[in-house]
Amino acid sequence: MKITTKTIRELKGDRPISAVTAYDFPTTVYADEAGIDLILVGDSVGTTVLGYSTTVPVTLEMMEHHAAAVLRAVPDALVVVDLPFAEASLEREHVLRASRRFLQMGAGAVKLEGGVAQQDLRSYLVDAGIPVLGHIGLLPQRIQVEGAYRKYGRSEAEAEQILADAESVEASGCFACIGEMIDPILSGEIRDRLSIPLIGIGCGPECDGQILVSHDMLGLGTEKVPSFVKVYAELGPQIRRSFEAYREDVLENRFPS
Ligand code: KIV
Ligand code: NA
Repeated sequence: MKITTKTIRELKGDRPISAVTAYDFPTTVYADEAGIDLILVGDSVGTTVLGYSTTVPVTLEMMEHHAAAVLRAVPDALVVVDLPFAEASLEREHVLRASRRFLQMGAGAVKLEGGVAQQDLRSYLVDAGIPVLGHIGLLPQRIQVEGAYRKYGRSEAEAEQILADAESVEASGCFACIGEMIDPILSGEIRDRLSIPLIGIGCGPECDGQILVSHDMLGLGTEKVPSFVKVYAELGPQIRRSFEAYREDVLENRFPS
């Protein structure tokens, strides 16, 4: 059954929402067959697949290229496409055009990083008929300002700010909100305060759902995964072993036989 933004919204309080990132056709097919509710074409494509050290260099063209591959799988899961930093910082008509383009391609929603600071832009998009997934806490697109990956909301002042960000995401009409690296107790408070689902990454269990970067949970990354990630497979080492076995077969004339 096709999952919509309405489905995601209504899952709050019913059962936890499962979400992963995907950037290509086969991963999307497997995630969808597994029954995942929401597939995010994250701008994490920049670091997981394209070899950049942050998501900052990711362009609209890159997102379109990967979103198109994901959408060719026509998953039942809701597909959400990240608005990359390079676009999200341009004038709002430009962001609206980019968002419309993703919806025309078949995406169900776009994701925009930022809390109170992005409220006007989110409201503008929602009023124009674009379903928007919010994103608060750690904002990877601002990593060059913030300087480091860390937990958010430990000080009272920062907790206040993040609560305000969460309320601003709901007020602008988003159907759900991603929380990234927010203190687990504060995450529970945000979940209780919002009427839209809080989908956490590195936020602990007190959320309405969870999202993981697929390369992290599948052991496909080339760097150390964050400590909050549960690693379900070691596909990277399996790929290396397969290439080694193939190479040896070729060198020893065992393949083709
Ligand atoms: O791009 C991404 O993978 C994300 C998730 C961490 C939520 O934004
Ligand atoms: Na992202």
